[in-house]
Amino acid sequence: MSKQQHLAAALSEVGKLPLSWANVFAEVDRAAFVPAKVWFDDEHGHPQPIGRDTDPVRWQAAVYSNEPVVTQLDHGRTVWPDTSLLVTSSTSQPSMMLIMLDALDVHEGHTVLEIGTGTGYNTALLCQRLGDDHVTTIEVDPALATWAREALSDAGYRPWVVCGDGATGWPPGAPYDRVIATAAVMAGRLPYAWIEQTRPGGQILTPWGTAYDNGVLVRLTVHGDGTASGPVVGEAAFMRLRSHDIPLGHAARLGDIIDTSTSAATTTTTVPPDEVAMGDGAFSVGLHLPDVRSGVFYDDGPEHYEVLLYHVPSDSVASVKITPETTATGRYSVRQHGPRRLWDEAETAHTWWTDHGRPAQTRYGLTISRTQQQVWLDQPSTMVTSAVPAA
Ligand SMILES: C[S@@+](CC[C@H](N)C(=O)[O-])C[C@H]1O[C@@H](n2cnc3c(N)ncnc32)[C@H](O)[C@@H]1O
Repeated sequence: MSKQQHLAAALSEVGKLPLSWANVFAEVDRAAFVPAKVWFDDEHGHPQPIGRDTDPVRWQAAVYSNEPVVTQLDHGRTVWPDTSLLVTSSTSQPSMMLIMLDALDVHEGHTVLEIGTGTGYNTALLCQRLGDDHVTTIEVDPALATWAREALSDAGYRPWVVCGDGATGWPPGAPYDRVIATAAVMAGRLPYAWIEQTRPGGQILTPWGTAYDNGVLVRLTVHGDGTASGPVVGEAAFMRLRSHDIPLGHAARLGDIIDTSTSAATTTTTVPPDEVAMGDGAFSVGLHLPDVRSGVFYDDGPEHYEVLLYHVPSDSVASVKITPETTATGRYSVRQHGPRRLWDEAETAHTWWTDHGRPAQTRYGLTISRTQQQVWLDQPSTMVTSAVPAA
């Protein structure tokens, strides 16, 4: 059995390999799409360089693991073996790719537009299943597009590989039966071009999220009236489409924002910070505070952490430190400074969430038209009116 077949078998055992994709996945070797110089997470959130020629054992272990492998940092400005924390391209976690391919619900004869070619590996899986002529893929980064085109060709696949901004779709190949994005869309900014270029009855599958919470997977069906709607179908934390990145101002990343303000207002809350910053609660809060960044930073084991909320344009910050003692008392000290009282806003959104029965992410959905992007709860007629104004 080849290493690729071992990975396929391992994913089948844990039930993460949909049957319809099992053979396809076993046949397309991930190693053919992973460059010789990559970075692999050391489990502390720091991508470490691994070279195929210098460390073939670790390189192969990374390639045939059910983990993402980082192929670009800082839009190519960080040159291997240097490292940094800004991941700008990777081959995604295989089980996540397969969940998405399964959710895409492709059938023989379908045409697919893929946004975010990356290594070309997902493109190859689509070609293997549907045939080269049925697959178009767009990558914004010229070096990555060239890599993918060559890797695909060497592996015997010749889809249409376009270098450009996937947010505009690719009209020459339209209409498509399916659009799949492997980079996340910001709430309120789902490219309408994707809807225009999808056949009525066709579907769009994309990671979607707010600045606060990134994110979920949504599957929209395109209607004959030029709208598209559909539910959240699962979780999916992806890097964002390039033009949807949210700059952090002076900080390189959220964890660098240290609350040193002497003018912070200090209050006490009994709202559990984990509900505001993680899971279903965070997703709902994010719908009401779509331009606020949130982060959870662990200090010393899972019981010691800090929740940080940050609004870049107004330089407003809220922070809450959680320890076993605060968790035992259920009372947490909150620091807030800047023109927006972010914790108070998050608490109001959290109250909305609890008042509505603590909905799970999968109870939400989206309706997109040329002029509006609406979030709904349970059915399209129940708009969450305060959530995510159209950008
Ligand atoms: C998670 S990676 C894609 C993984 C890829 N499907 C694979 O199998 O290797 C996301 C990719 O989306 C690309 N990307 C980001 N914004 C884009 C845009 N506006 N148009 C096209 N590609 C974009 C990034 O450069 C990156 O290569």
